[in-house]
Amino acid sequence: MNSRNLLFLLGLLSLVAFPVAGEDRFITLSNLPMGTREKPLVLRTYFPDPGLTREVLSNHDLGYRARKYSPGKGDVDGFVDPILGIPGAIGVNFGPDLSICWDATECRLLYAWRGGFLDMTNYWGEPESGRRKGFGYIPELVGELIFVAKGSHPLGIFDQYTEILAPEFKGYRVIDGVPEFHYTVGEADVRVKIEPGTEPMSIVKHYTVKAPGEVGYYETGYKIKKTDDKDGTFSVTIQGKPVVGMGGAAEEQEYSTEKPNVEWGAALYTNLGCLACHSTDGTRGHGPTFAGLYGEEVPITGMDEKVIADDAYIEESIVNPTAKVVESYPPGYMPPYPIGKKEIKSLTMFIKTLANE
Ligand code: HEC
Repeated sequence: MNSRNLLFLLGLLSLVAFPVAGEDRFITLSNLPMGTREKPLVLRTYFPDPGLTREVLSNHDLGYRARKYSPGKGDVDGFVDPILGIPGAIGVNFGPDLSICWDATECRLLYAWRGGFLDMTNYWGEPESGRRKGFGYIPELVGELIFVAKGSHPLGIFDQYTEILAPEFKGYRVIDGVPEFHYTVGEADVRVKIEPGTEPMSIVKHYTVKAPGEVGYYETGYKIKKTDDKDGTFSVTIQGKPVVGMGGAAEEQEYSTEKPNVEWGAALYTNLGCLACHSTDGTRGHGPTFAGLYGEEVPITGMDEKVIADDAYIEESIVNPTAKVVESYPPGYMPPYPIGKKEIKSLTMFIKTLANE
């Protein structure tokens, strides 16, 4: 089989949601576990549209309302609305730092967010009852948007556009755990691998382009750094930033970030994706519940004495989760959060509000 067929086959296989991650991790009905930088989680599903412009979704057909139809009676009163989601996208989660939504119709990065990944309840149903939340099929983003595509496609291939060409998705292959997307546009053949950069909220795109003309890159609304183009191989680093006023949680920022406070902690609990593993109502998730945690005694794997869950313990648990692993939970499951002191204090204050009287 040549590599092109293989790519195509991979594309087909990925129509079913499956983790590229090792056997030790699995997708549950509820939500995560998330991927990591080394072993990202790849998921093909409907995606929410956080308010992308028509220019970005230029190759998408709009859905139209249709008359309700009954097999017995024919047309009946009422209308059926189209499902408003992005159907052909591929999600990749690299842990709490970065998730991306790469669209196979536009063949571009539509948006990126940090925190959690996707809440699949709308699509897959509640883990217990199997019931969906709504008939929308569209999962919800967990976390905070840090990049939303604007304007026309960032990659410009000159000398070929006498007419506007639609890109054609060819599939993706996984290189060292990270997917590389493959598409053609006219005579150009493009491969792009996307991963987290070293700076917070940065996204790196590694391109290999075979094109008849010169290749340019322009990202509307974001600072980028581009390396030199060596025989069609170059990288672009996009500096993301919290996106205010569109989807995600950044919209509801009603707290101060001057000094630590409970409201900020509550927002971080959502934005950083803690809620994917820690409940606030006493139910056991991938991690222990935060309800009644503060001030209680916690049994730790490999320690005879229990540890009091005070500020120091909670702060350590966030920055270095493997320092003390709660009994009956796997070590190394929670990713370390190298976040600022004020963020850590705010989270601790939030957890404190859930203490037993
Ligand atoms: C991918 C799942 C996951 C995410 C996301 C996660 N945790 Fe955890 N967390 C765990 C697991 C599993 C444990 C128990 C094992 C251990 O101690 O490492 C844990 C333990 C803890 C503990 C100690 C709890 C106890 O009962 O003693 C605290 C505090 C904590 N996490 C805070 C956080 C905060 C704050 C966030 C978000 C910034 C977060 N966690 C995100 C899985 C997660």
